[in-house]
Amino acid sequence: MAVEASGDRPPAWVHPSAEVEPGAVLGAGTRVWRFSHVAAGARIGEDCVIGQNVAIAPGVVVGDRCKVQNNVSLYAGVVLEEGVFCGPSCVFTNVTTPRAEIDRKAEFRPTRVGRGATIGANATIVCGHDLGAWCLIAAGAVVTHDVPPLALMAGVPARRVGWVSHAGEVLGADLVCPRTGDRYAERPMGDQVGLRRVINLSGFGEDPPDTPREEPAASVG
Ligand SMILES: CC(C)(COP(=O)(O)OP(=O)(O)OC[C@H]1O[C@@H](n2cnc3c(N)ncnc32)[C@H](O)[C@@H]1OP(=O)(O)O)[C@@H](O)C(=O)NCCC(=O)NCCS
Repeated sequence: MAVEASGDRPPAWVHPSAEVEPGAVLGAGTRVWRFSHVAAGARIGEDCVIGQNVAIAPGVVVGDRCKVQNNVSLYAGVVLEEGVFCGPSCVFTNVTTPRAEIDRKAEFRPTRVGRGATIGANATIVCGHDLGAWCLIAAGAVVTHDVPPLALMAGVPARRVGWVSHAGEVLGADLVCPRTGDRYAERPMGDQVGLRRVINLSGFGEDPPDTPREEPAASVG
């Protein structure tokens, strides 16, 4: 394992029952809890919490300050940007039509989870999709499409049922965050409707870009 030096920051900490393979990178201040496995070639940022029984595959990238709760597997092709919360037992996938006896490694499809996003407990993210910054996926939802920034998604298949603020509050019709007073407005986003922050009192979190991402989700190496 490589532990990245970062001034006088505490080094990463790994529970004795966890395995972090040589060739994995853990940023300063990151903690890896019981029975978890981080494979060679995975890269975990600073100040992350990797919960119990978490599996992280080669090539996975986890940004700074992410929390990955118990019983989550991050498969090859998953990229978590900074500050992502993965709720307990949420599920990622990387093959759309798997067969046990047919090798689909060349067909892995990526999943990118944007800055600050939250995935609820037991939600499933079908591969090949991009979850926008600060979105919130409800517990048990099944995501089958790209998700706009700040969207609240629920159900099977997941549909947008509302908007959430950067601070993770469900927004009412006034689109004002009850926790911070930050104010939002709907706006066109490609052929869909999106949300942007118009008054930022909290100073918390960056605003997503005004246009949808044009580049394809990260390729799987
Ligand atoms: C989706 C969510 C954010 C909604 O929160 P909320 O606005 O406070 O929700 P409410 O309890 O007021 O419910 C509002 C409606 O949404 C429904 N609802 C709530 N959670 C839902 C879910 N996960 N999936 C589908 N519908 C849901 C409720 O049944 C209710 O419907 P109704 O008006 O027809 O009765 C929340 O329920 C959730 O799933 N959070 C994720 C929690 C989690 O996984 N945490 C992980 C770490 S502990």
